Amino acid sequence: MRLLDIRNLNIELLNLDQPVKAVESVNFSMYPSEVSGLIGESGSGKSLIAKALVGVLNNRWQVTADRFHFMGQDLNKMSMQKRKKIISENIAMIYQEPRRCLDPTSNIFSQLEESLPESYHSGWFNSKKKERVRKCIALLHKVGIKNHNEVFHSYPHMLSEGVCQKIMIAMAIAKQPKLLIADEPTTALESSTSLQVIKLLRSLNQLKDMAVIFITHNLNSITSWADTINVMYCGQLIESSSTKKILTAPKHPYTKALFDSEPDLSEQQNKNRTKLYALKGTIPTLQHLPIGCRLGPRCPNAQKACVIIPEPKKIKGQTFRCHYPLNIKELK
Ligand SMILES: Nc1ncnc2c1ncn2[C@@H]1O[C@H](COP(=O)(O)OP(=O)(O)OP(=O)(O)O)[C@@H](O)[C@H]1O
Ligand code: SF4
Ligand SMILES: [Mg+2]
Repeated sequence: MRLLDIRNLNIELLNLDQPVKAVESVNFSMYPSEVSGLIGESGSGKSLIAKALVGVLNNRWQVTADRFHFMGQDLNKMSMQKRKKIISENIAMIYQEPRRCLDPTSNIFSQLEESLPESYHSGWFNSKKKERVRKCIALLHKVGIKNHNEVFHSYPHMLSEGVCQKIMIAMAIAKQPKLLIADEPTTALESSTSLQVIKLLRSLNQLKDMAVIFITHNLNSITSWADTINVMYCGQLIESSSTKKILTAPKHPYTKALFDSEPDLSEQQNKNRTKLYALKGTIPTLQHLPIGCRLGPRCPNAQKACVIIPEPKKIKGQTFRCHYPLNIKELK
């Protein structure tokens, strides 16, 4: 059974003269303990998808999907309260802007303590306090924070972005979620800590069967451990398949350009913030989309037929949106 199965996900921004579809017709599914990479240039809609999955987009956004199944349950067909409970118990997210997502009015210990599973809070008042403190210390140590006493008493504004990111990771893994969504979890970290965090997520994935959606600009940080890769461009999922197939025989010209443009790991040190610029030109704004294929004006392979919108095609497990797919011989 699939852990997550979403069909025809649309995310629309409503507070404009004309509503704008920031994410269009995305199908996304994954199996328990799968690691799925979500990549694409800045502004392609990766974070919106992540936020829609955990239900944190405000009412300026309209999120719709024909199917929204999680752990075999249809989230579309249940009360908001039940849906929130299932999500908060089983899905955790590491946000892209950690400091903004931590509560500025509570100290770190209170926030970490609150993120512990229900079992740490039940029982007589204070009876489990020592257990909670021990668990919070262990969580901080896991993400590489040694000076736990100092950090416990601090407020987010007193800490660096890197430490806030580590705290957000500690809070996310505290509940041992079935699914962890990590939205660029290592951008504010120095490269040694970034490697340590990825190692930790990999071990949680292998030992605790935690599925991971890993959103990143650093392709090298995902290709070595993701089972599948999903490529976004301008609000659409333009290619999705196993990592092996994406690396050896990408079908979409944009996917190929992304991987061709990725700098070598040795050049990458401390450049986790590098944005992906796969092709000349920039991603169009949602208000000024080109006619037909959204990549058209930037695509080196564009032809006349590309003025017609390419619909998703699936061949041997590889889904792509392109009239002239690459590496088609491998499929014959
Ligand atoms: N609060 C907002 N108000 C208006 N537009 C927004 C808002 N948040 C996102 N968008 C728009 O939605 C689109 C997708 O944004 P999103 O943040 O999902 O991109 P992303 O792929 O996560 O980019 P990045 O790699 O820079 O994090 C972009 O065009 C962005 O400008
Ligand atoms: S449909 Fe045409 S413009 Fe779009 S990616 Fe394919 S070849 Fe390029
Ligand atoms: Mg983002």
